[in-house]
Order: sequence, then C-alpha cells, then structure tokens
Amino acid sequence: MSAERPVGQIEDDIARILFTREQIEDRVRSLAAEIAAVYNGRERGLTLVPILSGSIIFLADLIRELPLRMKIALVQVSAYPGQTTTALEPRVVVDLCGDVAGRHVLVVDDIFDTGRTLRKVHALIAARQPASLRTVVLLRKPSKAPPDVKVDFVGFDIDDLFVVGYGLDYDNHYRNFPHIGVLRAELMP
Ligand code: IMP
Ligand code: MG
Repeated sequence: MSAERPVGQIEDDIARILFTREQIEDRVRSLAAEIAAVYNGRERGLTLVPILSGSIIFLADLIRELPLRMKIALVQVSAYPGQTTTALEPRVVVDLCGDVAGRHVLVVDDIFDTGRTLRKVHALIAARQPASLRTVVLLRKPSKAPPDVKVDFVGFDIDDLFVVGYGLDYDNHYRNFPHIGVLRAELMP
C-alpha cells in the first residue's frame, strides 16, 4: 500500500515537461497520416489492439484522426505493478478479446521500453494468425529497446527517463496529466 497523499495539483509533482499537449497533438496527427497511408484500401479488415491501461489517451486521440473502418480488441498487461519503475516480467491481466484472426492488426502502446510487453503481446496475436501485424508506440527509449522486437511507427524517441502523463502512470497516478513530463525524483522511492 502506498502512503495516501491529499488531492493536489499534479503540476507540483512534475520536474519538467518533455512534450506539451500541443506537440503531442501535432505528432499524433502526422502518425495517423502515416498509418492511414499503409492500410487504406486493404482487403482484409483492420483491428487495433491497444495495450491497457497506458495507451488509453493515445488510442482515443489516434483513432479519431484515422478515418478508416476498424475494430478494437483489448488486452491488458501489467509491467510496473504499484510503486516500481523497473520493469518486471509483464503479466497478461486481461487476455486479448476480439477479432484478430485473418485481419490486419495494429498494436497500440504508450511506450516501448525493454520490449517485454510488446514481445508478449506480439506472441499472443501471432498465435491467432492475423493477416499482418504492426505496432505503433507513442514513445520509445532507444537505449533499451531490443532489436528483436519490431515497431513500425514511433511518435517520439526519448532518453531513458521515467515519464508520466497522457496515459502513462506512476502507481496508477498522473494518467490524466495532458502533457508528458518527468516526475520529481523524490516521489519515486
Ligand atoms: P516494457 O515491457 O519494458 O517495454 O514496458 C512497457 C510498458 O511499461 C509500457 O506499456 C508502459 O505501460 C510501462 N512503462 C515503461 N516505461 C514507462 C515510463 O517511463 N513511464 C510509465 N510507464 C512506463
Ligand atoms: Mg503499458
């Protein structure tokens, strides 16, 4: 259990902002254009697979910029339980539910860090024989990303920092911060 803190301003906990909501909005729009160009006109249907919970805000913004027919299939994976900032072996909390067999599948995640989460989700999906499998991440930490895990679309590359906001959390907090920022170090024991 974490020590309870009073409700207060998120801003007070942020050391610095890496990307403002306006910068994110611009990049999401151009990512959507890149993605639409790849899938537009394909014969098989498209299914997006967002990895919960970190991808929720990114997903909501991205799909409204994608003028394509699509289905959404959810999967929930937990890599950083509670107050940890070092990735553990990810656990599938809610198994993939939705239509992926024979369809073009685009996995949507907030951040590509050690790649363990994506490796696991890619295996889950590949076992169901999709027509194709691609991945979009908003953020990537290139210093850690392993070469065997392939991502097709990347919003921003960042240094190896623990970031929050725009869906990304620390101990399930800060997902609603509209920018992406670095937490004050003393808040991450
Ligand atoms: P990976 O399995 O190490 O690539 O971690 C991916 C998952 O861990 C992401 O989907 C995020 O939910 C979470 N994660 C990784 N880095 C961060 C971070 O800097 N802030 C918040 N969550 C993170
Ligand atoms: Mg995640």
